[in-house]
Amino acid sequence: MKPYIEMTDEELNEELVQLKKEYKKIQALGLHLDMSRGKPCQDQLDLSMAMMDVLNSDSDLTCDDGTDCRNYGALTGISEARELIGDMMENNPKDIIIYGNSSLNVMFDTISRAWTHGIMGNTPWGKLDEVKFLCPVPGYDRHFAITEYFGIKMIPVMMTPTGPDMDVVEKLVAEDEAIKGIWCVPKYSNPQGISYSDATVRRFARLKPAAADFRIFWDNAYGVHHLYDDNQDYLIEILAECKRAGNPDLVYKFSSTSKITFPGSGIAALATSPNNMDDFTKHLRIQTIGHDKVNQLRHVRFFKDIHGLTEHMRKHADILRPKFEAVENTLEEDLAGLDVGTWTKPLGGYFIMFDSLPGCAKDIVSRCKKAGVVMTGAGATWPYGLDPNDSNIRIAPTFPSLNDLKSAIKVFTLCVRISSAKKILADRKEAA
Ligand SMILES: Cc1ncc(COP(=O)(O)O)c(C=O)c1O
Repeated sequence: MKPYIEMTDEELNEELVQLKKEYKKIQALGLHLDMSRGKPCQDQLDLSMAMMDVLNSDSDLTCDDGTDCRNYGALTGISEARELIGDMMENNPKDIIIYGNSSLNVMFDTISRAWTHGIMGNTPWGKLDEVKFLCPVPGYDRHFAITEYFGIKMIPVMMTPTGPDMDVVEKLVAEDEAIKGIWCVPKYSNPQGISYSDATVRRFARLKPAAADFRIFWDNAYGVHHLYDDNQDYLIEILAECKRAGNPDLVYKFSSTSKITFPGSGIAALATSPNNMDDFTKHLRIQTIGHDKVNQLRHVRFFKDIHGLTEHMRKHADILRPKFEAVENTLEEDLAGLDVGTWTKPLGGYFIMFDSLPGCAKDIVSRCKKAGVVMTGAGATWPYGLDPNDSNIRIAPTFPSLNDLKSAIKVFTLCVRISSAKKILADRKEAA
């Protein structure tokens, strides 16, 4: 089939008649499919069920260093968990704090603390006239929700295939002291599934921010979430790079086992410089006497070491790979050559990103919904939910079964075609 834009009005109208017939048939099926959130599916959760058996009432819950996990203590985490997560995050265990069940919660707390108490002796953000954050777009809606919650002004910076547009990042942070941070998902990003290039990471480590309390919020949520054994993205380790660049305190690096074991019942972690660690722990010891050490121990005894964790991630990949490929194949079969959108083909992570013709994303998502397929809301990938082109859609292939996913993505491509044909016809009418 030729590109829609090259079709005559008659051809496009004829195409629309056929597509609408198909759409009506699908609506009659009464589907209830969900491609909206990046959640693991049941089979993935089942992979970690044996973790429930590694501890029981006969277990010795004493850590390697003699800490009794049943009691208070170990503010920054038990040493074997810091070691395991250190290996996962490619950081020294001494640079790691193990938290509770959610890295997003740690990010929220970090901003909240900067707001009320300031970072390393600097003025609390809440006392400043204005606080701004750079937000690489398209990006993760829950990051944007945190900064919006605090009334932080969000400045979109376009993503490129190698990461955020670093010319813009460098210029803005150097010029404006009100810019206090940037959200980054550097590996298998949400929603593109791309990873920052070496040059991008090196430039991040060498930023010269006007604000002494500017920090990079490096959310490496998908650091070990590869889809393929033989074709994987890799990322320069940012803490080491910042140290090499003479900027050791520039970054807070976050991660968790949410999409490794159980989301909501995993363990979250921060890796950062000794100065930042002191800053964090000063507040942390007021906030808690320690996080859930039993869960930390359960994770360590389940995985044993990083090799166990890597093997476990292979099992996740075996479940997810066919899903990603099913989505990509259907997008290719149904849309290639029509010039009605572009999409990413990630090697890992949880998402595929689709860009429609400008002005179509909301319409596509709404058509999908009316046909029983829930997508992430159009606009969610931009701060304040405002996608200026109305073109970006996040596809989350992980949660539905493979069969449901295949049906859902067919509905999606159908809606893309209807919406695109209608838009082209409407634009022509307006121009005439
Ligand atoms: C980039 C990113 N960061 C963080 C999270 C949430 O992590 P946690 O469950 O550790 O709070 C997600 C979940 O989708 C995510 O995509």
